[in-house]
Amino acid sequence: MRLSISSIERPPGPHSILPEKLLREFMRDPIKTLMKIAYTYGDISHFKFGRQHVYLFNDPEYIEDVLIRNYKNFIKSRGLRVSKRLLGEGLVTSEGKYHDRQRRIIQPAFHPNLIETYGQIMTDYAQRMCQRWKDGMTLDIHKEMMHVTLAIISKAVLGSDVKLEKDNEVGNALLVCMEYFNRLQMPFGELIEKIPILPINKGFQRAKMSLDSIVYNMIKEHRNNESRGVRVAEGDLLYTLLQAQDTEAGIKRMNDTQLRDEVMTIFLAGHETTANALTWTFYLLSQNPTVEDKMYEELCSVLGDGDADKGNSSYNSRIPTIEDVPKLEYTEKVFRESMRLYPPVWGIGRQAINDYKVSKYVIPAGSVIFMSQYVMHRNPRYYSDPDIFYPDRWSKETMLQLPRFSYFPFGGGIRGCIGESFAWMEGILLLAMIYHQWKMHHDPVHRVGLQPLITLRPKYGMRMKLEQRKERSNN
Ligand code: HEM
Repeated sequence: MRLSISSIERPPGPHSILPEKLLREFMRDPIKTLMKIAYTYGDISHFKFGRQHVYLFNDPEYIEDVLIRNYKNFIKSRGLRVSKRLLGEGLVTSEGKYHDRQRRIIQPAFHPNLIETYGQIMTDYAQRMCQRWKDGMTLDIHKEMMHVTLAIISKAVLGSDVKLEKDNEVGNALLVCMEYFNRLQMPFGELIEKIPILPINKGFQRAKMSLDSIVYNMIKEHRNNESRGVRVAEGDLLYTLLQAQDTEAGIKRMNDTQLRDEVMTIFLAGHETTANALTWTFYLLSQNPTVEDKMYEELCSVLGDGDADKGNSSYNSRIPTIEDVPKLEYTEKVFRESMRLYPPVWGIGRQAINDYKVSKYVIPAGSVIFMSQYVMHRNPRYYSDPDIFYPDRWSKETMLQLPRFSYFPFGGGIRGCIGESFAWMEGILLLAMIYHQWKMHHDPVHRVGLQPLITLRPKYGMRMKLEQRKERSNN
């Protein structure tokens, strides 16, 4: 039986603030508003967002309960309707039994052993990017990271070479789609769709058609090759997806539409997040010279002395490989700490299907539960000096002691990030490769701000001046 709304005890929250006022505050600065609510009212708080009841959870146990123990009682929130227009019924947007079944057959394609085959792709593309850079140049490092991670994911998924330059059809079409979704997330964004003749809607339709045709052609090519026993390229995720099936559970291979939806989903989910994580890491390093020096020491001890050939972009020391990743312990801590302070996915929402009991409260069906990585990762109960960038806090002992969901940049459970191993490897390899050759100086007149859309972007991009590393003795 469902509870009548008037008969329930609600957790504390900003009841005194008019919903409209809260809404305006939220629209202006969602992260600041959520931080204020969580750290004023406690581990479970309640507020109304328009007519929607929202419960903000800021306790690892409660978050674990929603994402793991009781996940069947929740669906993702309504924002996904829009994404379905591009992603169809891919992993991010599908629900219930269909999602769980797809997840089971796709999961093996993301096994860490298979992901290792993508290491070379990652460093190849990063190197191509670095070869275009010049000593003393100032550029928007966020744009660079978006391009390189997009090129990597396209190559990893389709096995086809994607250029980093402007004439990259897949890249351009994906950027148009992402821009479109981000615009729809903004205040009044949903009105955009209602006017089909707007250039932005037409642009989205064109981009979608172009992506569809590329992906369907690749699927056809892969199927033809498969029937002839030819594999397009080593480490080609589409090939693995094409093969994926679960014979034990009687699950057959995916049809073309399913494959298309999953490929499109991986394209979109698999690059902006890592690009943001790397951008924020470069920013944090530029602001923390002691950390930067320590990381560079490690890179030199693992990869060589970074002896750059002056005036030339070639350099003598080694490019990192996946075998180096376990040795780059401090680099890993830097990346981990950066995702604590600037989690690329800053919040996860779930809607309760049935009434849900937590602590002494019963949350009525239909309510939204919001769990924010940004808010939790700065919780002083788990992190001393939570706003300080301090990679050394990630000792083995600390990691064992911290509750599982006090740090959850990749979510968790059956809906947790399927690309987590991919992201760790890409993050560490690119960070090591780039930082070993280049030092970055944040342009002091450039503003830094958060743009919390689906992911946590730097609002004004990230302008950095590049300094090519010279021989260590000259440093
Ligand atoms: C630093 C990089 C990344 C971060 C922080 C990140 C974070 C996340 C989070 C938090 C979720 C769960 C969302 C929710 O529960 O509502 C998620 C889901 C997902 N991610 Fe990632 N992700 C990253 C990189 C990647 C990469 C590289 C790929 C693919 C190669 C990927 C593919 C996916 C997919 C397909 C899902 C949906 C999983 C499902 O619902 O079954 N992600 N990601």
